[in-house]
Formats: sequence, C-alpha cells, structure tokens
Amino acid sequence: MKALQFICVLFCFQHLAFFPIASTANQIDYLNKLITKSRKSENPPANVGNQLGMMEADKIDFLPGQPQGVDFDQYAGYVTVNQTAGRALFYYFVESPNNSLTDPLVLWLNGGPGCSSLGYGAMEELGPFRVNSDGKTLFRNEYSWNNVANVIFLESPAGVGFSYSNTSSDYKTVGDQRTAEDSYIGNPYIDDSTTGKGIYDYYWTHALISDETHAGITRHCDFVSGNFSRTCKLYRNQAFVEHEKLDLYDIYAPLCNSSAPKTPSPGSVNNFDPCSNIYVASYLNLPEVQKALHTRNTTWSRCSNVGWTDRPSTILPTIKQLIDSGLRLWVYRTLADMWLSTKVWY
Ligand SMILES: *[C@@H]1O[C@H](CO)[C@@H](O)[C@H](O)[C@H]1NC(C)=O
Ligand SMILES: *[C@@H]1O[C@H](CO)[C@@H](O)[C@H](O)[C@H]1NC(C)=O
Ligand SMILES: *[C@@H]1O[C@H](CO)[C@@H](O)[C@H](O)[C@H]1NC(C)=O
Ligand SMILES: *[C@@H]1O[C@H](CO)[C@@H](O)[C@H](O)[C@H]1NC(C)=O
Ligand SMILES: *[C@@H]1O[C@H](CO)[C@@H](O)[C@H](O)[C@H]1NC(C)=O
Ligand SMILES: *[C@@H]1O[C@H](CO)[C@@H](O)[C@H](O)[C@H]1NC(C)=O
Repeated sequence: MKALQFICVLFCFQHLAFFPIASTANQIDYLNKLITKSRKSENPPANVGNQLGMMEADKIDFLPGQPQGVDFDQYAGYVTVNQTAGRALFYYFVESPNNSLTDPLVLWLNGGPGCSSLGYGAMEELGPFRVNSDGKTLFRNEYSWNNVANVIFLESPAGVGFSYSNTSSDYKTVGDQRTAEDSYIGNPYIDDSTTGKGIYDYYWTHALISDETHAGITRHCDFVSGNFSRTCKLYRNQAFVEHEKLDLYDIYAPLCNSSAPKTPSPGSVNNFDPCSNIYVASYLNLPEVQKALHTRNTTWSRCSNVGWTDRPSTILPTIKQLIDSGLRLWVYRTLADMWLSTKVWY
C-alpha cells in the first residue's frame, strides 16, 4: 500500500475533487449555461445511452454486511458514455435519508490520477459506510455527507475502479480532455508551480525537513518551468530522506503494518484504521458485493495505472471563469495532507 502511495507521490498530481452543486435553480442555470457555452462543436457531448428502466435496475437491495437500520436508498451501476468504444463509467449514488428531494446533489471525484472514488471517497472518506477489519462487513460513518446531501461517487476515467472500456487502447490515451468529455468534469488540481513548491513549504512548516533543505529548494528549484537542476534534485532527495516514511495523506496518522495482527474495527470513524485500504479491497472483490453493486465480475483495485496524456499546468483561469460566471465555488484544503498544502483558497 505504501509503495503505491509513494509512486503516487512521485508521479501523480491530482487530488480529491469536489463539486458541490447547490440545488438552487440559479446554480443549475449557471452550470447549464456554462456547459452549453463550453460545448461548441469541437467538444461533442458525452454519448449517454438510453436510460429507461435503469434506475430500478441499479437500485441496491442491500450491501452485503451492511448494518441494520439503513434509512436511505442506494444505487450503483454503469453509464455508457461512448457506445462505439464500449466505454462505461461506474457510479455509486446514495440519497440522503430524510430530504432527498430538496437536499443538494454532490458529485464526488477522487484523483490520483487513476484512483477509485468508490474505494477512497465512499468507503474511506465521506460515504455512509466503512469496511470492518474482517473485510466483509460494514459499519456506519456517522459523519457521512449523505446526512445532508445526495452524493454521487463516480469512478473516472474508464480504467479506474469498476469503470471500463471495451476498447483497450482507451486506457493508454486517458487525459483531462477525455475525462472531462466523459464525465463533464475536468482535473481539480489547481496549479503546478504553487502546488509543487507548496509541498516543501508544508514539510518545512510542519518541522519535517530542515531549514537548510527548504532554503536550498527555494533557491534552486524552478517549479514554474519544472526544469529541475542537479542541485535542486539533490535538495529534493534530501527532503525525501529527512521526512522519512510518512502517510503523506495524513501526516499525523499511524502507518499500516500489514503483518501485525488485525484489531477488531472500532465501529466508529473517530479511530481511523490505517489498514482500511486492505479491508476495502477485500470487500469490493467479494463476488456477492460485486453482484450487489451491479458491477462486472472483475478484479477491483484502488488505483489504476492509466496513461495520462494531457493536463494543464494550471486551472486558475478556469476557476476565475467559473467565479465570473456567477457560480458559487468552495475550494478548500486539509490540514494533515501535504498534497493540498498550497493555501490558494479557503
Ligand atoms: C468514442 O471514443 C473513441 C475513442 O475510443 C473516439 O475516437 C470517438 O470519437 C468517441 N465517440 C464519441 C461520440 O465521443
Ligand atoms: C463491453 O462488451 C461486453 C461483451 O461484449 C458487453 O456485454 C458490454 O455491454 C460492453 N460494454 C459497453 C459499455 O458497451
Ligand atoms: C432523519 O430524521 C430522523 C427522524 O426525525 C432523525 O432522527 C434523524 O436524525 C434524521 N437524519 C438526519 C441525517 O438528519
Ligand atoms: C533546463 O535547465 C538547464 C540548465 O539548468 C538548461 O541547460 C536547459 O536548456 C533547460 N531545459 C529546458 C527545456 O529549458
Ligand atoms: C509489524 O508487526 C509485526 C508483527 O506484530 C512486528 O514484528 C513488526 O515489528 C511490526 N513492524 C513495525 C514497523 O512496526
Ligand atoms: C469471476 O471470474 C473469475 C475468472 O474468470 C471466475 O473464476 C469466477 O468464478 C467468477 N466469479 C463469479 C461470481 O462469476
């Protein structure tokens, strides 16, 4: 697990995405206008197939091992986004228990690139359930966002999680453009130059690297061009040596020791178990769980090595365009995760 996170740290520059869409008519009008405006002829709309009867078919009777008293509806299944290629995205949709008709709709996308919104977002972050250490049963997340919103967890792009394409070359030509066309939403990562440098500012302000190393990086590394000199590389390696083995997504969390005996799950999200990744992978690969989620019979993995081919170095102009169009945006950062350490927006 850690090896994978390490690879991600080095090569993946994309993160949790969020797109809270308030259900007021105004927000939706703005969004529609924006989508219509940006979808000129060079950007054909996603080719979504016939949806008749699919809602009923996608309804989840129950998830294996789910606790008693689940008081909201859940749906899961595929939406074909390109019939010619046979490309389909997998979603998991949870309604809010009490006011699903009036509560807002939230679309949740994990980054990576290439990591699963179901395994991370729904099962380890803000969804209604967490997986117990037996890898087979679930407990309730009392802080789930679906307490107050209807939440769609979308696995994107095809090749990630349960999302797939029957055209295998699709997995090698993934990028922001395709992801946006298939799912309407692009890359949430904000800005190369400030985020690249921000990681080292974060280490330094959290006493994880020395003053000397931070000063060396500040002086010698050009994060705007990304053309790193030899001296810069030496300082970056030094930073890596100094901060040692850490959970870079939560520097305060313990690391998972997969060879240590499993402890029973606490049944509460207040005690996060760093080995949760393992339990989630075990759960989502159970045949009865895949059946309940209406997925293909497949090996689910939390991140996929999709070949990312295009991505802008900054989306600050896009954020400006969204704000100028009148949409209300919420861009936030976490305290314990060095990735979103660039304090651009609060
Ligand atoms: C479907 O995807 C293929 C790539 O696999 C692409 O060449 C084609 O333009 C797409 N069709 C539509 C309608 O988007
Ligand atoms: C992919 O191929 C399988 C087997 O032919 C077919 O059942 C499935 O519907 C195809 N998927 C899409 C999205 O077209
Ligand atoms: C839904 O309503 C019930 C009954 O009023 C209440 O006990 C529960 O806390 C509500 N759930 C949420 C998430 O607000
Ligand atoms: C990168 O920087 C080096 C000097 O450190 C320079 O020789 C080289 O031309 C630069 N490469 C690019 C692509 O700018
Ligand atoms: C992991 O757990 C095993 C078995 O309990 C123990 O021997 C080992 O020292 C632990 N490793 C670390 C890094 O804590
Ligand atoms: C899923 O596919 C694998 C490999 O083809 C097969 O061994 C297994 O029995 C299948 N499981 C189900 C539930 O169909």
